[in-house]
Amino acid sequence: MVKKKVFVCRRIPAAALQRLSSEVDLTVWPAELPPSRAELLQHVEGCDGILSLLSDRMDAEVFQQAGPQLRVVSNYAVGFNNIDVREAHSRGIRVGNTPGVLTEATADIAAGLILATARRFSESIDQVRNLEWKTWDPLGLLGLDLKGATLGIVGMGRIGMALAKRMHFGWDMNVIHTARTEKPDAESLLNAKRVDLATLLANADVVSLHADYNPTTHHLINSSTLAMMKPNAILINTARGGLIDQDALYNALKDGTIWGAGLDVTDPEPLPDDSQLRTLPQCLILPHIGSATIETRQAMADIAVDNLLAGLHGRPLPHEVRA
Ligand code: DGY
Repeated sequence: MVKKKVFVCRRIPAAALQRLSSEVDLTVWPAELPPSRAELLQHVEGCDGILSLLSDRMDAEVFQQAGPQLRVVSNYAVGFNNIDVREAHSRGIRVGNTPGVLTEATADIAAGLILATARRFSESIDQVRNLEWKTWDPLGLLGLDLKGATLGIVGMGRIGMALAKRMHFGWDMNVIHTARTEKPDAESLLNAKRVDLATLLANADVVSLHADYNPTTHHLINSSTLAMMKPNAILINTARGGLIDQDALYNALKDGTIWGAGLDVTDPEPLPDDSQLRTLPQCLILPHIGSATIETRQAMADIAVDNLLAGLHGRPLPHEVRA
């Protein structure tokens, strides 16, 4: 029997790839950087399945190029804003993602960014590395206390809830949140009230973004919403860079509209060399490592391969995007 043809857009943990290679005619993009658009289009031709990353745009052009036999696009991420899901569904292509397994790892990074931003880790580390540490300074590198402060979770899904638990039980923070639907667990476990965005921004000392990124949430944080935040507030983003208008954030940090920002995601990624955000000491930026633990990336690979194989065999995916 002829094996199904699959293109995997980057190397992912080996065990999952081995499982895939025993069942399909597999091509794995071997380079460190993602395939260019032209390379992607060339490699998807004739494929029955594609295993994509968040850096690969999956749209009508890719589906057309692959051909009518394309059955499944399995994203190696929980977020799927890189995929035109409606277009895929209209062509009978199933779409999969990897929810659940990266919740704790991503919440850890959000918690880390809160601590690191509030306590100025980035500037402190630079001081030591640059040989600028002169003495114990009573007025040097003063940060903000977290105990008893208010954490505002924008988008109380799995990751938002995992972060809220960490900061409520670990740091005694009060929690408020926004969500599309009631979250009874947030109320009962954490006494976390559901409020509207304006109320959250006006009251939170730390605002952490966990909303889906889509056209309705593009630049949710902009000059108007930044102006609603407290001058001592910290903004954290581990979701998608496009939730924030970065020019507005730069101005808000520079003018002292808000106190600091901790970002694991930017728009675009990587952040351009000349991005002004790179120059601000109170803006701590990580290179999108929310899910970057050995166990988490293996678990994501297992799910992505399970989704892919199910789609190739015409079965519903274990984690299917139905939007
Ligand atoms: C995801 O899965 O959407 C994450 O952003 C990857 O770390």
